[in-house]
Amino acid sequence: MQTLLNQVSQIFDDEQFIHEPVRLYEPIDYTLRLGGKRIRPVMLLAANRMFGGNDDTVRNAAVGIEVFHNFTLLHDDLMDRSPLRRGQPTVYRKWDENTAILSGDTMFALAWQYFLVQPHHRLQEILQCFNRTAIEVCEGQQYDMNFETSDQVTIDDYMMMIRLKTAVLLAGALKIGALYADAPTDDIDHLYQFGIHLGLAFQLQDDLLDSYGDTATFGKQTVQDIRDNKKTYLYLQALQLATPQQQTQLRTLFATTPDESDAKVSSVLAIYNQLGIRSLVEKAIQSQFALATQHLEAIHVPDIQKAPLRQLMDTLLDRKK
Ligand code: IPE
Ligand code: IPE
Ligand code: MG
Ligand code: MG
Ligand code: MG
Repeated sequence: MQTLLNQVSQIFDDEQFIHEPVRLYEPIDYTLRLGGKRIRPVMLLAANRMFGGNDDTVRNAAVGIEVFHNFTLLHDDLMDRSPLRRGQPTVYRKWDENTAILSGDTMFALAWQYFLVQPHHRLQEILQCFNRTAIEVCEGQQYDMNFETSDQVTIDDYMMMIRLKTAVLLAGALKIGALYADAPTDDIDHLYQFGIHLGLAFQLQDDLLDSYGDTATFGKQTVQDIRDNKKTYLYLQALQLATPQQQTQLRTLFATTPDESDAKVSSVLAIYNQLGIRSLVEKAIQSQFALATQHLEAIHVPDIQKAPLRQLMDTLLDRKK
């Protein structure tokens, strides 16, 4: 895993992202150089290796998937009004909103360019997977926005929404890596489901860290979801367990216009704490990890070849950022 991450870092170090006009490309370079965990290219490479693929064949696809992910972040931070990412000001804060839109759009096209540059006999399938994934991420982002102003959201709705906005990209990265290695279809299906459950766990963790993480380690402003009235798993679980009085309080707090109110944040966190929401989310995360493991087990390759993905799961299990 570590060696895969080093390899991905090296690929990004070698890549040139600044071109003319600099004002368009500088925010792209800024975002990609800040790094992040780079789990999507690591997963793409790991899946490819698992089925005996060659790293050189997927080099550009690995860059492409990460550039796409970073495009979603530029737009997501604008949509969520998030000030911090990877411990630094977000693009729309450091530059402006138009910059986040246009540099983000460029990154989406750039991602395509990375995929197209290297021929492969299954490229059509690979691009179909990539594009289907991109559309689903946008669908998920729209549900996420719709839910901000709805008080009818169920836990099933939430799981559907995070599958789209987050899990399909992890699953897609794995599937693309496996397609490049010409893996058998039933193995690809299990790998995809492994990615979905890992992705669901990953977004549940993200929501948990948003309320209970530490801004300095997490690299993002915490409690942003509460400020934005996001219908997270934490909120929806709290609503289910709340007394009628707490329910009214929660609904009222989550109907206010997004603001910087610290009183709102502390009231919501107090209710979460009274209801023991943190450990409930941790349980939900564990059960998604368990489902992911079952799908990884079902893949027909020697155990040793699954080690990097298992290791990745272990590092994600108790992530703090
Ligand atoms: C952030 O993704 C968006 C979510 C899906 C929660 P990451 O947590 O992978 O962000 P970086 O790339 O490591 O910064
Ligand atoms: C992540 O959702 C989904 C995408 C970026 C597509 P969040 O809005 O929770 O991600 P963070 O917390 O800002 O990274
Ligand atoms: Mg966000
Ligand atoms: Mg968001
Ligand atoms: Mg989040």
